[in-house]
Amino acid sequence: MFPGLCLFLLGLLPGTSSVLEPTAQEESEFKLWLLQNNKKYNLQEYYHRLPIFVENKRKIFRHNAGNSSFQMGLNQFSDLSFMEFKKQYLWHEPQNCSATKGNFFAALGASPDFVDWRKKGKYVTPVKNQGPCGSCWTFSTTGCLESAVAIATGQLLPLSEQQLVDCAQAFNNHGCNGGLPSQAFEYIKYNKGIMSETIYPYIAQNGTCQFQPDKVVADVKEVVNITIYDEISMEQAVATRNPISFAFEVTEDFLNYRSGVYTNPKCHSTPDKVNHAVLAVGYAQENGKPYWIVKNSWGMEWGMDGYFHIERGKNMCGLAACASFPIPEV
Ligand SMILES: *[C@@H]1O[C@H](CO)[C@@H](O)[C@H](O)[C@H]1NC(C)=O
Ligand SMILES: *[C@@H]1O[C@H](CO)[C@@H](O)[C@H](O)[C@H]1NC(C)=O
Ligand SMILES: *[C@@H]1O[C@H](CO)[C@@H](O)[C@H](O)[C@H]1NC(C)=O
Ligand SMILES: *[C@@H]1O[C@H](CO)[C@@H](O)[C@H](O)[C@H]1NC(C)=O
Repeated sequence: MFPGLCLFLLGLLPGTSSVLEPTAQEESEFKLWLLQNNKKYNLQEYYHRLPIFVENKRKIFRHNAGNSSFQMGLNQFSDLSFMEFKKQYLWHEPQNCSATKGNFFAALGASPDFVDWRKKGKYVTPVKNQGPCGSCWTFSTTGCLESAVAIATGQLLPLSEQQLVDCAQAFNNHGCNGGLPSQAFEYIKYNKGIMSETIYPYIAQNGTCQFQPDKVVADVKEVVNITIYDEISMEQAVATRNPISFAFEVTEDFLNYRSGVYTNPKCHSTPDKVNHAVLAVGYAQENGKPYWIVKNSWGMEWGMDGYFHIERGKNMCGLAACASFPIPEV
C-alpha cells in the first residue's frame, strides 16, 4: 500500500495530472539508491523525494529504449526535479558572454580529426565537484588555466576555484550566483595571479576574499576570446593551443546523461540562454557524428567518469556562443 502521508504531501493542486504511484520494485530501487548515495531523509522528505526519483527513473528507461545517440542513467541528481537542480547548480540570469569579434585567429590548414589532451601527457587535472553552488565558471576557468600552464611548463597544478568565487566580483562575476571564464581570466590577469587549490581550498559557498600575493602559483598574460558561433576556431584552438572554456545551455535531459554523444533538438543556441560553463579537452567522432570531449565539474560519478561528449559542428545548445582561453604568464 502507498501511505496516505505521501498522497497528502504530494498535495496535488486541483486539475493537475494523476498521482505517480511507485511500484514496490521502484521503491526498493529508491532505497538502494539512497544507500549508494549516502542520503538520509526523514519521513516527510523521503515521501517527497520518492516520486521525483521514480519519475526520473522512468524517464531514463524510456529514453534508453529509444534510438538516441546518448544513454541516460541514475546519478547523484536523481532525486531532484530540474527546477531544484537549476536553482542549486546553474546560472540564474544571463551572463555577458558574447565576443562578437574575438581575438583568436585561426591558422591556415585543416585541424587533425582527433584530439584528446588527456592522452597527450599530464595536462588535465582530475574531475572536481562544484557542489550546490553556481560556480561552474570557476572550474571551467581553473581547468583551462591548469592545462595551459601544464602544456607550457610541464607542471600540472590544481588552482583555486574559491579565490575566484570570493575575489573576482569586480569583473562581473558573482560567486555562487554565476560568472564567466573570460571575465575570470581577466580578473587573474589584473590581480597578477591565482593561488593553488591546496592553499586556498574550495568550500562551495560565497566567502570573503583571502588572496595572498606571495602564494601565487599561476598567472594570465593574455585573454583570448573566440568569436561568437565560430566553432571551427574552437577546434583549431583545441588542436593547436590547449583545452578551452565554453558555456552551453543545460536542459532537463542533460542531468541524466550517462554516455554517448549528447544532442538535443530543442535547446537554445544563443548567448543569453547558456547557463553552465565547462572545459573542452578534445574532440573526435563516433558513427559519423562529430563530438567534443568535455570535462564537467559535477564529480567523477556523473557521466563518463565526470566527462561527457556533445555533438560538434552545430553550435549545439549554444556551445559556440561563449568560448575563451588564457595565455599563461610563464
Ligand atoms: C537510429 O538512429 C540512427 C542515427 O540517428 C539512424 O541512422 C537509424 O536509422 C535509427 N534507427 C532506427 C531503428 O530508427
Ligand atoms: C553585464 O555587464 C554590465 C555592464 O558592465 C553589468 O552592469 C552587468 O551586471 C553584467 N551582467 C552580469 C550578469 O554580470
Ligand atoms: C554570492 O556573492 C555574489 C556576489 O558577491 C552575490 O551576488 C550572491 O547573491 C551571493 N550568493 C549567495 C548564495 O550568497
Ligand atoms: C575578452 O572577454 C572579456 C570578458 O568577457 C573582455 O573583458 C575582454 O576585453 C575580451 N578580450 C578581448 C581581447 O576582446
